[in-house]
Amino acid sequence: MKLTKEEQQMFNGEMGEAAQQSMEILVALGKIYGAEKMVEISSAQISGVSYKTIGQAGLEYLDDLARKGARVKIPTFLNPAGMDVEQWEEMRIPKDFAKKQLEVLDAYGKMGIMKTCTCTPYFIGIRPKKGEHVAWAESSAVAFCNSVLGARTNREGGPSALAGAICGVTPEYGLHKDENRVAKLLVTVKCELKTVADFGALGSYVGKMAKTNYPAFEGIKSNKEEHLKVLGASMAATGSVPLFFIKGVTPEWNIADDAQRIEITEKELKATRAEIDSKLKPNLVTIGCPHASLDEIGQIAEMVSKKKPTCEFWVCTARKTKEDAIKKGYEKPILAAGGRIVADTCMVVCPLEQMGYQITGTNSGKAAAYLPNLCKQRVAFGDAEDILYR
Ligand code: F3S
Repeated sequence: MKLTKEEQQMFNGEMGEAAQQSMEILVALGKIYGAEKMVEISSAQISGVSYKTIGQAGLEYLDDLARKGARVKIPTFLNPAGMDVEQWEEMRIPKDFAKKQLEVLDAYGKMGIMKTCTCTPYFIGIRPKKGEHVAWAESSAVAFCNSVLGARTNREGGPSALAGAICGVTPEYGLHKDENRVAKLLVTVKCELKTVADFGALGSYVGKMAKTNYPAFEGIKSNKEEHLKVLGASMAATGSVPLFFIKGVTPEWNIADDAQRIEITEKELKATRAEIDSKLKPNLVTIGCPHASLDEIGQIAEMVSKKKPTCEFWVCTARKTKEDAIKKGYEKPILAAGGRIVADTCMVVCPLEQMGYQITGTNSGKAAAYLPNLCKQRVAFGDAEDILYR
């Protein structure tokens, strides 16, 4: 790879051990994927934040990097952690887990990383522009960043995003290059999509069909970011989709001449919804996968103030969005109805299986895909109006 003078200095260890170790990771990745050079990035999102996913070995790796003087060069924030740092005790998070989780966040803090733990950074002002290069790691945020914002990121792993943040660059390959941003699956949607759960089910179905191909959709009329985030998240979970296009909605639209074509009708949508849903009554309903927008919290607040849900519920979101929701008066009706606004974490990366829940409700295809294996939950899938009142 052709490195600039500064990149070479980092590689040679002239800028400290942590920068050297990070540049070595980036160069190794670049070689594997055939990158010719690095590209500057304007932000990084680090995954591997929940103690549930990284464990003791991950914590020691981070401590070691922080001790070696690792410092990020660009605005860097975190994926959801394993707990809400302000209400973990009320939420019955085990004490040992909480202690370790706080140590993980501390290690990141020492490296100059914002302790903002969210998968919807774009709802709290972190919105790279079209064509801007970043290194983000959480799969739904990656899909949104590439597809809805038109910015450019590969789906980074925790260590590669952190290495990018420390060096301020990432190897130029994959989705950083024009020629790779091409859809090979054309999906014609012939049914009406009304709710978040409809977009979640569509994403679950298309993700399985697309696998690693990028889909392009015709026939989707909504440009609501709440719909698009769920569509991307669900496709990233059941497939491995970091980029999609929607005709007339997304800033890019590039399809290969030989793209495969499929149609989605009411029949596939209904069948997917039925397949994901256990039809059971949940003991916990979780809204906000990906993390809820302020509007979504407002809608839930209005819904539950009219009629009290029949089970406990969480609305998962970024801490900043929670603070805005409190200012708007959305928290009171949620608390009064037996719910809570949960920040910093989500239903999948917190230790739900250790907190006494067995059946969790969601309107997200991504949460529905991960809750059984990662949290040992049975899934109640449907619209908020359904799962909150079963
Ligand atoms: Fe975000 Fe957790 Fe869903 S990280 S996309 S809320 S599984």
